[in-house]
Order: sequence, then structure tokens, then C-alpha cells
Amino acid sequence: MKFFIDTANLEQIKEANDLGILDGVTTNPSLMAKEGIKGEEAVKNHYKAICEVVDGDISAEVISTDYEGIIKEGEELAALHPNIVVKVPMIKDGVKAIKYFSDKGIRTNCTLIFSAGQALLAAKAGASYVSPFIGRLDDISTDGLQLIEQIRVIFDNYGFQTEILAASVRHPMHIIDCAQIGADVMTGPLSAIVALLKHPLTDIGLEKFLEDHKKNNA
Ligand code: E4P
Repeated sequence: MKFFIDTANLEQIKEANDLGILDGVTTNPSLMAKEGIKGEEAVKNHYKAICEVVDGDISAEVISTDYEGIIKEGEELAALHPNIVVKVPMIKDGVKAIKYFSDKGIRTNCTLIFSAGQALLAAKAGASYVSPFIGRLDDISTDGLQLIEQIRVIFDNYGFQTEILAASVRHPMHIIDCAQIGADVMTGPLSAIVALLKHPLTDIGLEKFLEDHKKNNA
């Protein structure tokens, strides 16, 4: 399973990248706003800065919601760097735009997926990735992981090449469950990624090893 980090924070992106396990980055307008990045040029420059840090797919989201606007914006974003994947919302004009981009060889990530039907439609339009938001489904007492399972079965039934990018990951168990189900990618915060490292028995064991070494070499 590929690991993407879901942030626009360059420090966190660098930290995850330095771990040597990072395959890409996802951002969205809310994450850009959180970092105080505003204005078209600043946003584009930020995407370029991310591309300089991480050698992997970088999702850049369009703001337009009409077909012509999505195409114009998406083409501009795709021209920024070969690793840019145009993030398009799951709306009617978005699906049409994904088909256009797919025909042109521009890679897309269909975002805001909350049902298997939406994922199927995006895959048929030729999306490179679909992003089911598991955490936001969990938030409304709906099983987000069940959606990943459903999409996995559907994509495998028909051999869709579209990758399942489990998004809105909130904690390490989401990552482990996604890996068990067979999601192709997960995108989550640095906290969830780093939490995978942790086990109290590792800390206790290491402390004991170091203590014994010290005694033995005193
Ligand atoms: C996906 O690409 C989105 O950026 C993201 O995963 C949304 O997560 P959230 O529900 O934590 O905002």
C-alpha cells in the first residue's frame, strides 16, 4: 500500500519524506487555508515547492465546479509539474472533466467519494485515483471501511486500473485496516503515520537492552 501524507504543511511533508516511506501528497483548499496560503500564484508556487520535496504523486485540487472551469484550472495545474495529479470533485461536471483529462493523458484524483456508485462512475470516466473519505463517514456513524471493501470488490470484478486512495484517515488503525482490505493507497496526517511506529513493549525492551549494555560495559 502506498503512503501519502494529507497536508500542505511543508515541514510535516519533509518529516514524512525523511522517514523514507512517503509515496505522495494530497492537499485540499482547507489544508491550504490552514497554512495561510492564499491567492492563485501562491497556491501554485506551494504545489511546486511540494513537488521539489517529494518524488511522488501530488494531488492539486481545482476550485471550479463547471466543466470549462475545471478543464482550464486542471490543465494549468497539470502543467506545473509531471507529478501533479488533478483533484476533481465528484460532481456531474467533474465526471465529464475526468473523462476529458483521461483522454488527454492527464492524471486525476476524484475526491469527495462517499458511495460505491460514485467510485464506479469515476473509474468508468478514467480517474487515476478515487478518494473515499472514511473518517468523515465514521463521523456520521457510517462504516467508512465497509465502503473501501465494496469498492475493492467492484474494481477487482472488472479489472479497473483506478487506484483506491483511502482518504480522511484519522488514526493508525484506519491505516492497518485499509492495508488489510487492500486499498492501493492511504492518505493521512503525520500523526497517524508516526503512530504506527509506537509500541510500549518496544520502548520497554529498548530501555532494558541499553541498561544491560551500560552495566556490562561499566
Ligand atoms: C483527501 O484527499 C482529503 O484531503 C482528506 O483526506 C480529507 O480528510 P479530513 O476528513 O480529515 O478533512
